[in-house]
Amino acid sequence: MKTGIALLAVAASFCLAHPPRAEAGARKKADGRGRVERMDFGKTPDGTPVDLFVLGNGRVTAKVMTYGAILTELDVPDRSGKSADVVLGFDTLEGYLPRHPYFGSTVGRVANRVGGARFSLDGKDYTLAANNGPNTLHGGLKGFDKVVWKAEDASGPAGPAVTFSYLSKDGEEGFPGNLAVAVTYTVTADDALKIDYRATTDKATPVNLTHHSYFNLAGPASGSILGHELMLTAAGYTPGDDGMIPTGAIGPVKGTPLDFTTSTPIGDRIDQLKGDPGGYDHNYVLDPAAKLIHPAARVTEPTTGRVMEVFTTEPGLQFYSGNFLDGSLKGKGGVVYKQHQGLCLEAQHFPDSVHHANFPSTILRPGQTYTQTTIYKFSTR
Ligand code: GLA
Repeated sequence: MKTGIALLAVAASFCLAHPPRAEAGARKKADGRGRVERMDFGKTPDGTPVDLFVLGNGRVTAKVMTYGAILTELDVPDRSGKSADVVLGFDTLEGYLPRHPYFGSTVGRVANRVGGARFSLDGKDYTLAANNGPNTLHGGLKGFDKVVWKAEDASGPAGPAVTFSYLSKDGEEGFPGNLAVAVTYTVTADDALKIDYRATTDKATPVNLTHHSYFNLAGPASGSILGHELMLTAAGYTPGDDGMIPTGAIGPVKGTPLDFTTSTPIGDRIDQLKGDPGGYDHNYVLDPAAKLIHPAARVTEPTTGRVMEVFTTEPGLQFYSGNFLDGSLKGKGGVVYKQHQGLCLEAQHFPDSVHHANFPSTILRPGQTYTQTTIYKFSTR
């Protein structure tokens, strides 16, 4: 009963913040503030229809779908004005339904790893689904990337926008509490894809949401990202064990191949990294680790001139250089995705925060609202 009332309260507060979806899906805007178009994108195996939304400002166009709140396409001009899709993915829903490495996905309830697939909170022990050796990765076996979200047109002065919402039930993948989650994608007038997250719960729970696009600023058919130049506003990182569970220390990047405090081609020192497969897959500690929007990264692709800047409210940024892409997946246009064909810049709290009191907390309690904003902003040089 108590849970029922609490669930209603969460649902009610969620509805107030997010009014019901407009009647016939998304509306077209004819007022120059950009536009949102809705399309059918097929059905999941249980018959649930999936919608795809197109948001554009005339230069940057994003496509996002209700399955996994996934960004399927992001068209961005190069220095001569020629547009290309800069994210890896598939042409159809069917491509996304089998296991794939989180292409474009909204990742949660807890992005990155939870060591030992368990944690204790307020004296209670919780066991999660282990899907990465003995650990939980990216929310477990069926994370937020594998569920169908509700959608509504959220366009406003900031630009064309879509809000996806999902109620993650108490006990889902082992996590406590009914968590009402909303993710809004906006294409802004200054050529950014802005992603805003909100969540409320009726029981204390860890929450760590992120966006998992694989970017290739030369276009996904262009080969590896090793020639992209990367700058990260991070002097530190969280070293981990062989299973990538942090030791709890914050290590300096200075003097290591992890140092991107000045813009450096990603391929310059990648061979010096140990691990199988090798490459970057590290959580950087952003400076400042403040809950204000701050610059986190800049990626420059020299041949096309495309530049992507990342701003976030989050204290950490997982830089992943697509190490596990091994040529076994055929993506858009039949292109085979090989190792290092895309790079991920996943703004988030640190991995395994539930086990490290010195890391910024990921615990959300009833009455609090989780918020997160990450901006991927495009320009050329
Ligand atoms: C994150 C992880 C990687 C890998 C990718 C997806 O970046 O840190 O180890 O799991 O997601 O394959």
